[in-house]
Parts: sequence; structure tokens; C-alpha cells
Amino acid sequence: MPYTEATLMEVYRYGVSAPVGLPKSTTRDMTFRGFKIPKNTMVMVNQWAVHYNQDHWDEPFKIKPERFLDASGLQLIKPTESYMPFGLGRRSCLGENFAKGEIFILFCWLFGRYSFTKVPGREGESLIRKDESQGLTQYHPYPYEVIVRKL
Ligand code: HEM
Repeated sequence: MPYTEATLMEVYRYGVSAPVGLPKSTTRDMTFRGFKIPKNTMVMVNQWAVHYNQDHWDEPFKIKPERFLDASGLQLIKPTESYMPFGLGRRSCLGENFAKGEIFILFCWLFGRYSFTKVPGREGESLIRKDESQGLTQYHPYPYEVIVRKL
């Protein structure tokens, strides 16, 4: 179970389904890292940059569920503030708990009952190629084929 959870946490980090958070607006004049931001300026969090920040993540472009597990592999490590798949603060995702619960159940159901293998002759093909065209929900996968067998 911890490995399953760590895998999903890594999917949320790597997949960063919302590369930029929803637009927000500053409520007062402020300074952030030397930049003056006037009141009522639209600001957006670059979650993609946070999730792929090489200063905070070891090999951010690799999928490594182990990064969320301790040395025993049995305990989940609490993610740092460089992890925000559902945004942060008062206006973070309203559906976070619902989404996480549903995805966990679906994921366990699928991988507990079926095996997924690549199509013979196309084993070298990556299934995680991502459509990098810009959009609010960037990074959806291109269509792909796999062989699904009931276990
Ligand atoms: C894996 C699934 C999901 C991910 C990764 C996700 C991610 C996000 C992110 C990043 C935001 C913007 C937060 C911010 O700007 O700080 C957001 C907002 C929101 N999400 Fe989700 N979301 C997911 C599923 C859902 C579901 C299933 C629902 C509803 C049932 C939902 C409802 C909302 C709502 C209502 C907001 C706007 C919150 C506000 O502005 O106050 N989300 N989500």
C-alpha cells in the first residue's frame, strides 16, 4: 500500500495535471523576491517549475515513487512545500480528497486485476510521451496501445 500511494504521489508530481494554478489576484501591493507586484495584479503559480525544480528533486524528469518513501520502503515521506499538485492555500483544489480517493481505488482495482504490457515489437516505445502543447491541463498523454490481460 505505501508503494501504491508513493506511485500515485509521483504520478501527481510528474503528471502535474495543472502546470499553472488558477489565476489569483494580489489584494495589496507587495514585493516577492525583489519584484514589486501592485495590488490587483493577476498572479499564477508555476506548479510545473516547482515539480521539476532540480534544486528540490533528485532527477525530476524520472519517475521514482521511492522518492516519497523512507529507507525501509514502508513509510511515506511527507512531501516538502515543493509539492503542490492540488495547489496551495485557501483556494486549493476543492476536489482533492475526492479525487485522491477515487484514483486510489481505481488504480488498485486495475493493477490488482489486470496486467499491462507493451505491444510486441514496440517495447522500446515510451508510453509516457506527453502532449506538451500549452493548455490549462497540459501534459495529457498521446494515444497509446497496451495489452491488458485479466490476472
Ligand atoms: C487528480 C485530480 C485533480 C487535480 C490534480 C486537481 C488540481 C487542481 C488545482 C492545481 C487547482 C488550482 C488550485 C490553485 O490554483 O491553487 C484546482 C482547483 C479546483 N479543483 Fe481540482 N484537481 C483535481 C480534481 C478535482 C475534482 C475531482 C474536483 C471536483 C469534484 C475538483 C474541483 C476543483 C475546484 C472547485 C477548484 C477551484 C477551487 C477554488 O478556486 O477555490 N478538482 N484543482
